[in-house]
Amino acid sequence: MRAKRSPRRRTGLPGAPAGFSHAEAATLTCAGLTAWRALFVDYAVKPGDTVLVQGTGGVSVFALQFAKAAVATVIATISSDEKLERVKSMGADHLINYKEVEAWGPKALELTGGRGVDCVVEIGGAGTLDQSMLATWVGGHLALIGALAGFTVPVQTALPFSKNLTVQRLTVGRRSMQQDMIAAIEANGIKPVISDTFALAGLADAFRHQESGSHFGKMALEI
Ligand SMILES: NC(=O)c1ccc[n+]([C@@H]2O[C@H](COP(=O)([O-])OP(=O)(O)OC[C@H]3O[C@@H](n4cnc5c(N)ncnc54)[C@H](OP(=O)(O)O)[C@@H]3O)[C@@H](O)[C@H]2O)c1
Repeated sequence: MRAKRSPRRRTGLPGAPAGFSHAEAATLTCAGLTAWRALFVDYAVKPGDTVLVQGTGGVSVFALQFAKAAVATVIATISSDEKLERVKSMGADHLINYKEVEAWGPKALELTGGRGVDCVVEIGGAGTLDQSMLATWVGGHLALIGALAGFTVPVQTALPFSKNLTVQRLTVGRRSMQQDMIAAIEANGIKPVISDTFALAGLADAFRHQESGSHFGKMALEI
């Protein structure tokens, strides 16, 4: 990925990428930065690596965009074929419907020719961790971000040992990481994906929409 450091600004806030709306800029501070840190700070994605992203929520869609900008191969798990074409058009190389293929970890392993995925952007938590570890190669990296599939599901704790995996928890990121991310976003022309925008008065509808899982990437609230 092409990246250049933004000029130093005399403020505690990093500022938004050039040409971004307020809504677009607002997507970066949590979902964008978390995906950035997972791929380029805690891990260092290289061209030719395979990155696995789960679903089409805010963090995962940013991870897909960043990983493709870094010329990585991306395997995306999705819940419905309705989202398939959209994920494909964003450059995902392989797609697995995780509702249909329960053992999507071994399927992802197979898609890498048996080598395994280099880095998993793990948003499911305990409920997806076993499959993620099964997908990963010896020495692979799991960025533990969310728990959408549960906090307290039994996990095969032998897997990280037998595969020498790094399982790293992370919480968003620092200002300096955000500056690097913004520079990379500007250099690579990346735009956040906002599938739905709601008025503040429609906040309850926005939550219901998110709960339905039909959004793609981020949702925005106009204030
Ligand atoms: N650690 C941090 O600093 C940090 C920062 C941001 C977010 N998070 C956490 O990370 C998680 C994701 O955040 P987000 O903003 O991306 O959420 P989001 O936009 O609400 O993502 C929801 C999407 O995730 C996918 N999903 C849900 N359950 C799944 C499962 N079992 N397997 C695979 N995909 C699944 C679904 O997409 P499909 O229908 O396409 O499958 C769903 O539409 C949340 O738990 C959030 O709290 C943590």
